[in-house]
Amino acid sequence: MQIPAFQLERYFARYEFSARYLLSSSDCESLSMSELLSMADPEMTDAWETLKLGYTESWGHPLLREEIARIYEQVAADGVITVVPEEGIFLAMHALLEPGDHVVCTFPAYQSLYEIARAIGCEVSTWEPDEERGWYFDIDDLESKLRPNTKLVVVNFPHNPTGFMPTRADFAALVELVSKQGWYLLSDEMYRFLEVAPGTTLPAACDLYERAYSLSGLSKSFGLPGLRAGWLATQDLQGLERISQLKDYTTICASAPSELLATIALRSKERILIEQNERTRRNLSILDAFFERYQDQFSWNRPKGGSISFPRMLAVEDTFAFSEQVVAETGIMLAPSRAFQYSDNHLRIGFGRENLPKVVDLFSQYLDERFIHN
Ligand SMILES: Cc1ncc(COP(=O)(O)O)c(C=O)c1O
Repeated sequence: MQIPAFQLERYFARYEFSARYLLSSSDCESLSMSELLSMADPEMTDAWETLKLGYTESWGHPLLREEIARIYEQVAADGVITVVPEEGIFLAMHALLEPGDHVVCTFPAYQSLYEIARAIGCEVSTWEPDEERGWYFDIDDLESKLRPNTKLVVVNFPHNPTGFMPTRADFAALVELVSKQGWYLLSDEMYRFLEVAPGTTLPAACDLYERAYSLSGLSKSFGLPGLRAGWLATQDLQGLERISQLKDYTTICASAPSELLATIALRSKERILIEQNERTRRNLSILDAFFERYQDQFSWNRPKGGSISFPRMLAVEDTFAFSEQVVAETGIMLAPSRAFQYSDNHLRIGFGRENLPKVVDLFSQYLDERFIHN
């Protein structure tokens, strides 16, 4: 398989574990092992203490699949397969697509959402938002991209990197458009449950349409990326069977400790999500003040969901060079939009981490020195 390098992941590989401060991460503050284990009920405590480190069931631990199925209305445990989230994109695309198929994908995007389809030999059209309208993805625009050989529409809301979310009515119209034609819908819902306005969580695509696949997991909203725990949920059991067969060629099954820890996390879903949402909302108000203060240097569309935003820098021409300079001079890692193959003018700023106030403060000092005192 010929596939170009994953630019954002390569960028993170360079800095994520060497930079002193991270201001571009998409995952929320991680829980510690002891915090998570303290949430275990007696059944899971016993399962954890007596766990033997053998292979696990390929579709996922039955208790975990049951817990995942509780999130959905139309999907039972048999419509769920556990995957590493990134693996889920890879498997779903290989199961659903053939060379020559046409795919439409939200863009800018997490690169695998369109790159894997391209590597399979599909034609990919991008569905791009209007920055002037708050990164609005227009359904009419999506409709204009569709062709007779379209097979799959890929969407990601809350959106990485802009934080855009459609209204419920727009999301319903999107699903209606895709379902009218019988195309597949891959809905990357990794940032679901992190909505800025309470009560705006979108329905899961897999609950709305029988050929939709919802991809989700614990990496972002739950702050548990180290578990590598995610899943695909769908009513399309035939397609899921193909995915399960492909999984024999990637991971075969999940890590046994991770499955139990993921089950514990899902049983404490409300508690974990309340804390993560409190933190992202607190941090967002700090970003509000930051972008208000530096409005001559940034234009910012406040995100509607997720833990990331995508401000445009007005004061520099090349955010890649700027990011390199910032990390060298301050130890703060930013993610330039070139890593999204999108533009040279934006930065991705993450706001899910506990130390955001401190890092924003350091970044402000840097901007003051660079742009005011120089
Ligand atoms: C939109 C989106 N989908 C999928 C993934 C993959 O998740 P993971 O890194 O947990 O495999 C990411 C990670 O950044 C993401 O942002």
